[in-house]
Amino acid sequence: MKDPDDLIIIEKIKQSRLPETDLSDIKFGTIFTDHMFIADYRNGRWEKPKIIPYQALPMAPSAKVLHYGQAVFEGMKAYKDAEGNVFLFRPDKNMKRLNRSAERLAMPTVPEEYFMAGLKKLVELDQDWIPAEYGSSLYLRPVYYAISDEIAASPSQDYRFVILASPAQAYYTGDVKVKVEEHYSRACSGGVGFAKAAGNYAAQFLATEKAKKEGFKQIIWTDSKTHEFVEEAGTMNLFFRIDDTLITAPTSDRILHGVTRESIIRLAEDNGMNVEVRRLTVDEVMDAARGGRLMEIFGSGTAATVLPITGIGYRDEYYELPEPQVNYASRLKKMLMDIQYNRAEDPYGWRVPVVLKKQ
Ligand code: COI
Repeated sequence: MKDPDDLIIIEKIKQSRLPETDLSDIKFGTIFTDHMFIADYRNGRWEKPKIIPYQALPMAPSAKVLHYGQAVFEGMKAYKDAEGNVFLFRPDKNMKRLNRSAERLAMPTVPEEYFMAGLKKLVELDQDWIPAEYGSSLYLRPVYYAISDEIAASPSQDYRFVILASPAQAYYTGDVKVKVEEHYSRACSGGVGFAKAAGNYAAQFLATEKAKKEGFKQIIWTDSKTHEFVEEAGTMNLFFRIDDTLITAPTSDRILHGVTRESIIRLAEDNGMNVEVRRLTVDEVMDAARGGRLMEIFGSGTAATVLPITGIGYRDEYYELPEPQVNYASRLKKMLMDIQYNRAEDPYGWRVPVVLKKQ
């Protein structure tokens, strides 16, 4: 791979905004670092990428992304250890998923060296923005969208790929209760549910807002055909512990192929937990709940990490999850985070160094 300094034009900010930023009190996704990465695709080729000061990017009101939703994104994080070393977690997975999403939306793939070099250079440049606390991180948001100014329902000619960086603490706070959705659907077979397409999230807002009014924080999406099988929650994949078995739905063209999900399955299996990747019905979950065998539900995702669900609502029933004596979610969360924050050996090679203080 080319040296990022040769590949990317870098225009540094004159005055950092960091001194006036309180990194100990952050609302997720509201603060952005000094710089951002940007690369445009025009006239059939990629232009030289840049890192520039964080700023609004002008776009015509006729830009295709606004009309046809041709946009995909990623979510990933950079982690700082006690010595100030900085790591990414399995960034190759996000890069490949971004391009799978792009292909599904008929967009040209983003060159891998742009993605990786842009990510690493941006993180290196803005490393002082990474909160040092265990549990905090720098959330990275690659976003890729159609910018041709033409009202025509066909793929855009021109595109923009941007990476934003945002210091982050927890995504969810407080109790997380989920509701099983049987009316609205998030994804259908043959659709774009597996892609991190921007529109997948907008399509969830109405149902989620309705559920929030009933006291829930998220929805458990069920299959669009029968609403019998559990699939995923809006921003997370889901794991159910029935007795001592962890069950998670197989990924499909309707379910996001979560990097955290895949890592959790591996960690659970390698640490002697019984894992079943299989279809699971709402009935099976609720029967287990009624019989006192539903021990835990947790979500997994980059923003959410591993998130215990405290209660589940289904039709007129509501089931409060017990406080488990043996807590799989917290064990798995610690194992995962210890690798991410360089507190434990990484036998898998998941941790990718970006800044190493002592070499
Ligand atoms: C992530 O977990 O990183 C996501 O992209 C979900 C997002 C809606 C915060």
